[in-house]
Amino acid sequence: MIPAIRGTHDILPGEVEKWRWVERTAQALCERYGYAEVRTPIIEREELFAKGTGETTDIVQKEMYAFTDKGGERVTLRPEATPSMVRAYVEHNLEQALPAAKLYAIGPMFRYERPQKGRYRQFHQLDVEVFGINDPAVDAEVIDLAWALVAALRIPQAELVINSVGCATCRPKFHEALLAALGQDLPKLCADCQRRAATNPLRIYDCKVEADQPIIDRLPHAVDYLCEPCATHFAAVRAQLDAWALPWRLSHRLVRGLDYYTRTTFEILGQTLGAQNALLGGGRYDGLVRTLGGPDRTGIGFAAGLERLVLALPDDAPIEAGARAFVVAIGEEGRGEALTLLRELREAGLAAQMELEARGVRAQMKRADRLAARVTIIVGGDELARGEVTLRDMGTGDQRAVPRAEAVSAVREALAGPMVGAGS
Ligand code: HAM
Repeated sequence: MIPAIRGTHDILPGEVEKWRWVERTAQALCERYGYAEVRTPIIEREELFAKGTGETTDIVQKEMYAFTDKGGERVTLRPEATPSMVRAYVEHNLEQALPAAKLYAIGPMFRYERPQKGRYRQFHQLDVEVFGINDPAVDAEVIDLAWALVAALRIPQAELVINSVGCATCRPKFHEALLAALGQDLPKLCADCQRRAATNPLRIYDCKVEADQPIIDRLPHAVDYLCEPCATHFAAVRAQLDAWALPWRLSHRLVRGLDYYTRTTFEILGQTLGAQNALLGGGRYDGLVRTLGGPDRTGIGFAAGLERLVLALPDDAPIEAGARAFVVAIGEEGRGEALTLLRELREAGLAAQMELEARGVRAQMKRADRLAARVTIIVGGDELARGEVTLRDMGTGDQRAVPRAEAVSAVREALAGPMVGAGS
């Protein structure tokens, strides 16, 4: 046996229904909010993420599946979608091509992280991005879409946290204040923090090392160092969230682990996920389109981890159990007619199955049970000689004879009715 690669997963029947529900809910919501789907390649030039995600991030420094391809080009499996979405927006001049540059994508991402619950090496994201709209209303819309997704999935006890990390004008002053406040304490922090202090002091707030926390708790907050335009922008975002009654909480520690963020950052945290508690995260990135060779356009978005959404679903999530019909054949004569009926049902657009190896009726009924069939159609014996088949409701056990010629419409009717014994 050659096992799957560590940190990757097969999504099997039984689980895949949850995935489909999450994906369909996400797609339906994105379309309702006016976002258009984009599908970009899984493989990109390494440079796109070095420049986009940022040289000082853990992702670029330690986690990329990057290699030299047979043509000598440095390429990587994408660790996140945002730089790819920016590339596609710039490369295809989507600003001109689309009525609004509001985009979403769903697909796998790759990071060489230490796997644990909610953290994998191949994982999947719903990624949402808006380009070229600077108004705080778009920050609020994107946050509202994220919140609506978690609500539509009925994920309990989700918490919305927000922050503002300022812009190129006010960030340097905040960095100065951070370093000044650290002063004598800097050498006491962990090696990662020492590195952060030199490259991107804001990121010290990302530190999870227990011993560092008392020092970090005393540090100044980004929101107190915002320049006037950033402060006004953030106030307007909060006011709109309040107007829509979204329950946000300000978190000074929410600086996010990627280099491109400016102004608004946000996450939605789940309560059932353990250490990896961010269901989704995002924010504004006003310089990124330009950094990646595009026009001077603002950007904002978020990405949700589909694995984490699936893990956080409530037990009673309304996952569709696809209505099913099962055809049972009695004897050889019954089998030929049953196969004919099976095909008729499928042609009529109904989900129908049958035991394809000839077996006894008991074994066939057992299989129908395992497949959670709602109706079985028993074909053979005296009924067939009379031009009839038997329809059995698997929920109630009720049986009745139906003319063979009306079998398809009778099954359709039975499947359309309320499901018996499912509490609905
Ligand atoms: P991120 O915070 O790196 O942001 O990832 C977003 C979400 O992806 C996380 O909240 C989590 O749910 C999921 N995720 C990340 N890494 C893993 C992993 N190893 N295993 C499972 N799930 C994971 C971004 O990726 C940004 N591109 C978000 C964004 C879009 N910002 C603006 N636009």
